[in-house]
Amino acid sequence: MNKRVLLIIGGGIAAYKSLFLIRELARRGVQSRVIITKGGTEFVTPLSAGALSGDKVFTDLFDLTDEAEMGHIELSRAADLVVVAPATADLLAKAAHGIANDLATTTLMATDKRVLFAPAMNVRMWEAASTQRNVQQLLDDGAYFIGPDAGDMACGEFGPGRMAEPPVIADHILGLLQGDTSLDGLRAPKPLKGRHMLITAGPTREPIDPVRYLSNHSSGKQGYAIAAALSGLGAKVTLVSGPVNLQPPEGVDCVRIETAREMLAACEAALPADCFISVAAVADWRPKACGDKKIKKDKDGIPPLNLTENPDILRTLSKAENRPQLVIGFAAETNDVINHAKAKRAKKKCDWIVANDVSGDVMGGDHNEMILVTPDGETTWPRQSKTGAARQLALKIAQALL
Ligand code: CTP
Repeated sequence: MNKRVLLIIGGGIAAYKSLFLIRELARRGVQSRVIITKGGTEFVTPLSAGALSGDKVFTDLFDLTDEAEMGHIELSRAADLVVVAPATADLLAKAAHGIANDLATTTLMATDKRVLFAPAMNVRMWEAASTQRNVQQLLDDGAYFIGPDAGDMACGEFGPGRMAEPPVIADHILGLLQGDTSLDGLRAPKPLKGRHMLITAGPTREPIDPVRYLSNHSSGKQGYAIAAALSGLGAKVTLVSGPVNLQPPEGVDCVRIETAREMLAACEAALPADCFISVAAVADWRPKACGDKKIKKDKDGIPPLNLTENPDILRTLSKAENRPQLVIGFAAETNDVINHAKAKRAKKKCDWIVANDVSGDVMGGDHNEMILVTPDGETTWPRQSKTGAARQLALKIAQALL
């Protein structure tokens, strides 16, 4: 492959991993031309980056010899892709706001190529509202992100903030360079054309009597957003929805149901599908009996709520004879999120679990922070709008089904 990336190495402890990234890219036949920020040179030297890339390393915008040989505009255009690794909070902030005061940021602003950020920073810095706003801005501007991963960090804390591992970044870069359209967002042609996606969304309602029911707070927003994103990528989408206050996205086939048993029947009727995404907050139990007359307070007294278990739709479809190729569950948790999600993935026999912490404003809100649990491990995606999260998941699905 005759491709070249422009690798911007920012000032963070993860900078040493970027030296491995240069090597991983070379193994995949991709050349790297490197810019190291001033902060970056505190962690790795231009000499080591140059030895690995076999090319001149650029460090300072105002080096007149460099500008004469290759100006910053030219530098940003001569690459097929710009990669920022590690992308520090400072670099993300500058890129999001168009601040261009050194070679790296000037190049980022001048480039007409796609940009991939591999963030790395302390977990609190990653979670800071300002960083998350900047990430959202860059996503909206069309940038790509990989990581950060969750794990032990150099600063002694634990959580999302570690830069993704070099081989994983290198594979992602290869996908982008090979024109993997599923990575190319909604600007891509339709990578899911001809595929059928089945999604459940919203709550179910389990009747106690003709006027009362058991239910939950699910708004359906995340499931509807995923349906819209998948449809945007060209898929035929069947959305089996509990009662919600939302219009089905355009082009999506929406089947409205009330109870868990109706939801299961509608899903089974919609098979075969290439992918099943179980976003619905299905009521785990239903009243054993529901009479056809309203329970009267005076006459009947306080009725006992005798409950029985509802069918588990996710588990049923995971084990079905005509099981979709990719089955994805959601795990809404309030504590120990990753461990519960892993246990759920095993129990429900699905391929991926999208975990989210619902102790905050996720249920009913417009934002979500998702952790994708797959057989390969966990990836935390930045807190973002439910639409943004849906788009990211839709792209990941498209990639998996390619
Ligand atoms: N799910 C389902 N049918 C059910 C219950 C859950 O299809 N009867 C699906 C949900 O759509 C979600 C996943 O299973 O994709 C996990 O749902 P969740 O409510 O988090 O898990 P439960 O199995 O209900 O476990 P618990 O409530 O104890 O956490």
